[in-house]
Amino acid sequence: MVLGRIAITGAAGTIGTAVRRALRSEAELLLLTDRVPLRAEAPNEEVRPADLSDPAAVEAALAGADAVLHLGGIPDEAPLAALLTANVLGTHHVLEAARRLGIGRVVLASSNRAAGFYPAGHLTSPREPVRPDGLYGVSKAALEALGSLYADKFGLSVLCLRIGTFAPAPVEPRDLATWLSPRDAVGFVRAALTAPARPGFATAYAVSANTRRFWELPDRDVLDYVPVDDAEVHSADVPGAELPTDPTAPQAGPYARPEFTLRHLG
Ligand SMILES: NC(=O)c1ccc[n+]([C@@H]2O[C@H](COP(=O)([O-])OP(=O)(O)OC[C@H]3O[C@@H](n4cnc5c(N)ncnc54)[C@H](O)[C@@H]3O)[C@@H](O)[C@H]2O)c1
Repeated sequence: MVLGRIAITGAAGTIGTAVRRALRSEAELLLLTDRVPLRAEAPNEEVRPADLSDPAAVEAALAGADAVLHLGGIPDEAPLAALLTANVLGTHHVLEAARRLGIGRVVLASSNRAAGFYPAGHLTSPREPVRPDGLYGVSKAALEALGSLYADKFGLSVLCLRIGTFAPAPVEPRDLATWLSPRDAVGFVRAALTAPARPGFATAYAVSANTRRFWELPDRDVLDYVPVDDAEVHSADVPGAELPTDPTAPQAGPYARPEFTLRHLG
């Protein structure tokens, strides 16, 4: 058992469900929190309902954890007020609870969409300035900034994972670059939770070893995991996979279009 007591926010969600099941046998205890109903599925799971907008509830949910995996939040474009509450204030409450409780390691679910306006022909590094492709991307840029603040000012160890497209398999052409397989997602999360505890902050892309990827894979000294899946293996099942891609088009693809954000602007 390499993992200690791990708290997971957003544990009822798509990634939370997959990660929870994969890490269950390796963790001493999984403290699962979400605002929607959840059930313990093993003796080492404990469910602690909380809304991320409620700081006291978040602190109660994380009490006793050695590390936190913060997945909870709105995972797509939405009105800014909703994103600020769930993704920005919610992350603040998680980091603040970690500081108050003395939890050394916090892993934050960021998104590639914090930098979706880099062109597809560019291999983007997480050390480059953010270029959000919408309001959701802005909320993830703020999440990363909060993580950096809590590392620099309060000595927490914070790792942000800029998650690609989490799915069982790629389904559209953009996914051939951005896919994150469930197996690689678990690999990145495990590495982030178990990386040597030292104060500091880092951001890394969590993406499979896709032939067409346009994001840097993490430095091994930041995150000791080498992804094993490649979306190319599934390209025959992806309609349009053979069409040329425009290297000047944004990495975010359709998410970068004005309409995608305009419908949330009233
Ligand atoms: N799925 C992807 O491909 C992808 C890509 C990039 C980043 N991410 C990020 O990874 C994380 C998990 O994504 P997912 O696909 O599992 O999303 P999801 O929507 O399936 O899960 C998110 C969970 O957060 C919970 N939640 C939302 N608001 C909450 C609140 N105010 N209080 C408490 N719980 C709340 C929801 O109930 C849900 O169970 C998100 O932060 C998302 O932004 C996901």
